[in-house]
Amino acid sequence: MVHQVLLLILSIEIGTFHPYYASAFLIDRLVTGDWNGVGFYISVEREAIKKKLDNYHSSVSNECNEGPRLFVPKVSVFPTMHNNDRHPVYVDFGFMRSHDFDEYLKDNPNPCVSTSGLEVAVTIPLLAGKPDGPPIYALALTKFYEKSRGDIPKINFLYPYIPVDEISLRDNIALVRNGSDEMKISFNRSSHYCKSSALIVKEEFNEFLFSNFQFGLPVPDYSFCDRHSFKSKFCSNAERIKCGVQRYAPNLCQVWKSNDFGSCAATVEIKNITSGFRNFILLDDNPVNILASQRFHGNTTMALKYPCQEFN
Ligand SMILES: *[C@@H]1O[C@H](CO)[C@@H](O)[C@H](O)[C@H]1NC(C)=O
Ligand SMILES: *[C@@H]1O[C@H](CO)[C@@H](O)[C@H](O)[C@H]1NC(C)=O
Ligand SMILES: *[C@@H]1O[C@H](CO)[C@@H](O)[C@H](O)[C@H]1NC(C)=O
Ligand SMILES: *[C@@H]1O[C@H](CO)[C@@H](O)[C@H](O)[C@H]1NC(C)=O
Repeated sequence: MVHQVLLLILSIEIGTFHPYYASAFLIDRLVTGDWNGVGFYISVEREAIKKKLDNYHSSVSNECNEGPRLFVPKVSVFPTMHNNDRHPVYVDFGFMRSHDFDEYLKDNPNPCVSTSGLEVAVTIPLLAGKPDGPPIYALALTKFYEKSRGDIPKINFLYPYIPVDEISLRDNIALVRNGSDEMKISFNRSSHYCKSSALIVKEEFNEFLFSNFQFGLPVPDYSFCDRHSFKSKFCSNAERIKCGVQRYAPNLCQVWKSNDFGSCAATVEIKNITSGFRNFILLDDNPVNILASQRFHGNTTMALKYPCQEFN
């Protein structure tokens, strides 16, 4: 199983760690949803990651505020899978359905609010908080969604959302298209390799795929809640976190958790990718090297942590 190999390598290379929450706030279950999709790691140049991190640092710091710091770990992650001058980027695509507005939408069907749809996300995983620190942070780069979904990105602070013309998923081909730019990914599920979460190495799976601390999210935007006056779980958190967010941003991160994920082996191949999307996933012009891939489905929750990096 690809991901078990992956997890084994990870647990050997990285060891386990225990998150440190001395004086931070962890607001649990801020967002809930379920996911059914495919995720994979590609190998990219370390330099490309560093450049992206530099951009991120300059976008979040000013004279008064240093902002969080992220580093490519000194020791390569996945050392047996690619050269030392490489680092992985994580891409996933699939169907995400949010449950946070279920009750509201049942009573108020609203064609401008779409809480489910196909999404494609790009993340730099396994980053460190200091040059020799453990690789427990991630940086969310982007999440593509279809323009036609209307208001959804506004209420969302999971990812820097970017609209594209089209995302489709059929016949084992995922396609993202924006004008003449496209990314076409072919994937196969090997169904006989599916395991329920009771059987997979659950803790590691959660730890590395979901419980890392993900920076790069936009500051929560609750203007949706002002425009549509109703009680929802999502909006009821607004008052609770507004001050904390204002005080600590951009040093806040999301923490994904899942209780009941199932996962299956899958193979993934990028069939076509034009320069626009190459830039988004930090690829150069060389052939794409996919390190590992899997298909997974289940319910997830997202917590918000602030301050995310704690210095003492
Ligand atoms: C998609 O195309 C539009 C119009 O050409 C452009 O403004 C936008 O930046 C593009 N988005 C992405 C994700 O490339
Ligand atoms: C999936 O299977 C089809 C048919 O066997 C094959 O043409 C395609 O290349 C496979 N794709 C991947 C990513 O393995
Ligand atoms: C996708 O790949 C095919 C075959 O490799 C090529 O003919 C086509 O022009 C590509 N499409 C784009 C948008 O690059
Ligand atoms: C996720 O949660 C929803 C509602 O809470 C439930 O109906 C669904 O069966 C769950 N999905 C999985 C895969 O457990």
